[in-house]
Amino acid sequence: MGTTTPPKIDLYSDTQTRPTAQMREAIANAEVGDEQAGEDPTCNALQERMADLFGTEAAMFVVSGTMSNNISIAAWTRRGDAVVVDARSHILRSETAGAVVGSSVVLDQIRGERGHFSVEQLDEVLHPGSLYAAPTTVVSMENTHNFAGGTVWPIDQYRAVAERAHEVGARVHVDGARLFNATAASGVPLRDWAEPVDSIWVDFTKGLGAPIGAVLAGSTEFIAQARRYKHVFGAAMRQAGIAAAGCLYALDHHVERLTDDHANAARLAAGLVAAGCEVVMPETNIVFFDPPADTNIDDFVSGLAAHDIRIGKVQGRLRAVTHLDITTDDIDTTIDVITSTTA
Ligand SMILES: Cc1ncc(COP(=O)(O)O)c(C=O)c1O
Repeated sequence: MGTTTPPKIDLYSDTQTRPTAQMREAIANAEVGDEQAGEDPTCNALQERMADLFGTEAAMFVVSGTMSNNISIAAWTRRGDAVVVDARSHILRSETAGAVVGSSVVLDQIRGERGHFSVEQLDEVLHPGSLYAAPTTVVSMENTHNFAGGTVWPIDQYRAVAERAHEVGARVHVDGARLFNATAASGVPLRDWAEPVDSIWVDFTKGLGAPIGAVLAGSTEFIAQARRYKHVFGAAMRQAGIAAAGCLYALDHHVERLTDDHANAARLAAGLVAAGCEVVMPETNIVFFDPPADTNIDDFVSGLAAHDIRIGKVQGRLRAVTHLDITTDDIDTTIDVITSTTA
């Protein structure tokens, strides 16, 4: 578990941001009501704004990204169905089998290239169902893909996968925890990512720097069903406008600047390469790397910690994530420390 005093330079994850003074002020001044009854004006405003950005009929405020995945899978499936995911997806690797526990589905894995699978790979696992095989009812894509290194789906491949899934009657779900990063890097707007798929969500607690919240979007019919499962999972809220206000503030003030995080990630990657690390070159704000050949990975992490710099060890590799609370000076300090300790 983490520490209570944040490290001076925290590259562990973009979830480590603290709300700014201005965001806290927006939260303090939020108008609130009963969210569960649909009467919270700030939640309603956020939902309307996000439905507009996604170009969907409806959207729903949810407490977290994990909850958005679990609700969507519950809404689209019946017990014993198969859900296709990438082998390194967050749904499979980091949600404590929530889809299996909550919806009794089987997760069919595809090992995609940088987290992205092809129509041909999809065809290998798609199944209409039989006496022996579970029917594929959901195909899920992750954009950006966290454990593949913050990679952005090529939009044509994304559309082709969605089309193929639809041809066999499966629904297409998108884990868009960092969808705003995908948009910032590719120039493809939210509505183009939403258009080919059936359910899609975005997190406000990653690069956008809010303390709580995600928004799930889709058709009116899907959101009605999703609202039912939100209640089933005990995630319907009361005066949740205090959380939604942080998300609205982030929409106004923290979206444009995501390109700064991407530039900082590229700067860090270049410094790491120069220091002899093996680096997966970043497309957005996530840098996966291995330490120089003769350096032990745990010693590398603790060496940085001694300088009050935190990076993560994720699935056997090092991971540094840039965000709102990381400046270019922080990146340069980190590179200096790594260069001097690995020289
Ligand atoms: C790709 C991806 N999906 C889902 C989640 C879960 O989001 P939350 O922490 O809001 O539950 C994360 C969190 O890091 C993530 O990276």
